Amino acid sequence: MKIFIIGVSGRVGGLLAAHLIDRGDDVAGLVRRDEQRAALVARGITAHVAELADLTADSLAPMLAGADVVVYTAGSNGGAREATAAIDGEGVLIALDAAPLAGVDRFLLVSVLPEAGRGQRLGDDVEFYFAVKKLVDVTVSMSDLDWLILRPSLLVDRPGIGTISLSPAQPHDEISREDVAVTLAELIHEPRIRRRILELTQGSTQIARAVVANVP
Ligand SMILES: NC(=O)c1ccc[n+]([C@@H]2O[C@H](COP(=O)([O-])OP(=O)(O)OC[C@H]3O[C@@H](n4cnc5c(N)ncnc54)[C@H](OP(=O)(O)O)[C@@H]3O)[C@@H](O)[C@H]2O)c1
Repeated sequence: MKIFIIGVSGRVGGLLAAHLIDRGDDVAGLVRRDEQRAALVARGITAHVAELADLTADSLAPMLAGADVVVYTAGSNGGAREATAAIDGEGVLIALDAAPLAGVDRFLLVSVLPEAGRGQRLGDDVEFYFAVKKLVDVTVSMSDLDWLILRPSLLVDRPGIGTISLSPAQPHDEISREDVAVTLAELIHEPRIRRRILELTQGSTQIARAVVANVP
């Protein structure tokens, strides 16, 4: 398969690219700096250099052409509002419009558990981030594309354990980025799971089995 990752320079995006390459897939992605492109090319990843906020659906579409699926995993992680609005918000909508222009039907979005961090006085910028993520989920879920939204719980940087909990509703907990990336790779290769929101956290079910259990 050919997979285009928006956010390929990020932690989840980079781990996902590595797993897909290990599986024999072609991986391409969007980065914003030349040195990021060079590092990805050395790993066998085709990279296009552009500032996401400067792109339109028309200018992004040619980069997506030929992909079987677009994965959107870029995000501000609750940083400055301007970046959140541009990357977690507008950027997703641009990619969502660009995919059909490029002839790509499948669109996989990494979102967030909406109730993550509730009651922790997260501050206005993080509240804004959750609001933007939720609104974008609404728009993606109403699109005509073959969409899939994955909402992980708190992401942590530790080795994956290879087991997860995956279903339409999960409690907020935490999960390693590695396990998120392996789950994404499995979901990409399971086209029967489509037009669904799935929540993901650490758990006790082997990843491939957890994915198959969500096939309708
Ligand atoms: N943190 C959590 O606990 C949590 C929980 C659930 C879901 N999520 C979501 O999971 C996704 C992946 O997270 P991650 O940990 O892999 O994130 P990450 O390592 O911080 O990577 C973020 C990606 O977004 C890009 N990006 C950020 N700001 C940008 C900007 N202003 N313009 C263009 N690109 C920009 C980064 O590009 P550069 O490399 O160029 O900076 C990078 O590719 C995000 O959407 C996040 O919201 C996070």
